[in-house]
Amino acid sequence: MPRLTETLGEVIRGGSYILGPQVSSFEREFAAYLGTEHCVGVANGTDAITIALRALGVEPGDEVVCPSFTFYATVEATVNAGATPVYCDIDPETFCVTAETVRAAITPRTKAVVPVHLFGNVAPVPELRELGLPVLEDSAQAAGATLHGKRAGALGHAATFSFFPSKNLPCLGDGGAIVTDDADVARRARRLRFHGSEDKTTFLELGYNSRLDELQAAALRILLPELDGWNAARRAAAAAYERAGLGDHVSLPVPVEGAEPAHHLYVVRHDRADELGTALAARGIGARGYYRVPAHRQPATARFAPVALELPGTEQAARTHLALPMGTALSDDAVSEVVEACASGST
Ligand SMILES: Cc1ncc(COP(=O)(O)O)c(C=O)c1O
Repeated sequence: MPRLTETLGEVIRGGSYILGPQVSSFEREFAAYLGTEHCVGVANGTDAITIALRALGVEPGDEVVCPSFTFYATVEATVNAGATPVYCDIDPETFCVTAETVRAAITPRTKAVVPVHLFGNVAPVPELRELGLPVLEDSAQAAGATLHGKRAGALGHAATFSFFPSKNLPCLGDGGAIVTDDADVARRARRLRFHGSEDKTTFLELGYNSRLDELQAAALRILLPELDGWNAARRAAAAAYERAGLGDHVSLPVPVEGAEPAHHLYVVRHDRADELGTALAARGIGARGYYRVPAHRQPATARFAPVALELPGTEQAARTHLALPMGTALSDDAVSEVVEACASGST
């Protein structure tokens, strides 16, 4: 993209690399795109969760309800905020938490809930808000998705994004953001991303060095206007899979009611998912399970799972999910080839 290299050249020549005009402009533009009041750029989507939880008032010893079926970083970031993660189950069809699964995990010590908009689906945040606790949307995989016409990221008390290069809205390295309508949460997040200081002189609390840099922000400003078009192409690919009869061979992704997913990944379910993945690989088709070992069984975070914990939806999703090729330029031929390979590999 010539515009990208030209703009990055200008930023390099400009000599301002950290927290300059590109970052503040991107923060304004991304907040406007989502329909939120504030955006705070940070170094990555993992820090975004840690900082946002602290900005929401989570303190050491507090419990935070989150799914185990997610990218591990959701849980890691929660622990790094000082909180105790309490694993809740998911709906194995949507891969998202529900009001029922979250309610079952709430205790008097619960301080926040972190639903994950997994694979680009959108968790039912309005129902979660009715539970009366602050909701932090982990929107890392759902830039541009909507629920009843409202953007993922604008549904909870605050939300976090990752701009890792594989994400729907990518930057050229690591990057992330926190968005919120709450001015106090935004202010605290801004302070926490800069060592807990508002004026670079007085350090009010222990924070982080976690900033989105100018080069990444400049790239994001150029790519943000492309996001809706890219997501439309992903949705068209999903529709093409359906039209080509993929649903006769595997269980198709199920959008949460009212959601228009961003299809970050196109994840189907099959009883013998790994075998099917191997059959597809034999035909040169990349397909894989992402979270075969969910967070409550990972070595670093299993200690937060009570012995009696049962997460049947999580276990089912972990065993049966399989991500098929998805992207902004998936041809009809590629779709047919995948469907054909699933037809012969799934029997
Ligand atoms: C659901 C989810 N949460 C958090 C993260 C962490 O983002 P990052 O890799 O930018 O730290 C990711 C991305 O990798 C993710 O997919």
